[in-house]
Amino acid sequence: MNTPSLDHYLVVGNPIAHSKSPFIHAEFAKQTQQAISYEPLLIETNNGAFTQAIQAFQAQGGKGLNVTVPFKQEAWALVKQRSTRAERAGAVNTIGFDNQGNSWGDNTDGIGLVRDLTKNHGKSLNNQRILLLGAGGAVRGVLEPILQEKPACCVIANRTVEKAQTLARLFTDLGDISASSYTDLAGQQFDIIINGTSASLQGELPPLPDDIIPLKRGWCYDMMYSAQRTPFIQWALEHGAICARDGLGMLVEQAAEAFYLWRGVRPETEPVIELLKQRLR
Ligand code: ATR
Repeated sequence: MNTPSLDHYLVVGNPIAHSKSPFIHAEFAKQTQQAISYEPLLIETNNGAFTQAIQAFQAQGGKGLNVTVPFKQEAWALVKQRSTRAERAGAVNTIGFDNQGNSWGDNTDGIGLVRDLTKNHGKSLNNQRILLLGAGGAVRGVLEPILQEKPACCVIANRTVEKAQTLARLFTDLGDISASSYTDLAGQQFDIIINGTSASLQGELPPLPDDIIPLKRGWCYDMMYSAQRTPFIQWALEHGAICARDGLGMLVEQAAEAFYLWRGVRPETEPVIELLKQRLR
């Protein structure tokens, strides 16, 4: 019996040992009967190490890779062709190599977030007032797909308000988008609040005013996930949000989109999200 030869994929970052992507892609491959390997690779952050590692992997016949912190901007600069959403994000999390030896780059984070909200949680973004917290790479990475859903408006709040203003300016042609300080959010009403700050990483909460009104009929979503409730999810539940979700579903959905781009088949995400939830318990 012939064993089919495997197509090789990587996830690269620093750190990388914690990554759930190898588990997720192994589940997708099992489910769709794709003959692939998918391994984590730690890359040093010294100058040039990322480019060297990617070029070596391509030379060995690698088919593609996922890129995570802190290399997404370097990946953006490295690839020959970029999708519109990657172009806007200024960051690439998925790379593929074609048969002519060219590399392409995409960013599946935003579509992952949108699919988790719309498909898995049944929450449309259309015509909604959306507040995004944070103005770093995480928020920039998801703005284009969010604006494609035609929300009523998008407000970006950040401690350093100038960063929010600069970011909003990059997307004004795609919809009603503006910047705000946290204090100016007082008394305002939103349908969906999305936390894209790294505050949860330090166990902190963005400085939201107490009388902001997401709430009673509003949604809160933390792009981070953890076994315990993140501080933002805890805040949302204490302030009466009707629904508060973390980013585990986004993680699986962004992976599913990368898998589809490489393999041309769409895996089912719900069973993989369930498996990950069990593993986190
Ligand atoms: P990432 O790529 O994860 O977005 P980043 O580019 O370093 O990382 O951006 C981190 C974001 O989280 C920034 O918007 C930062 O706010 P400032 O620009 O004002 O620093 C935000 N952030 C980090 N810790 C925070 C905290 N404790 N409260 C509120 N915002 C925080």
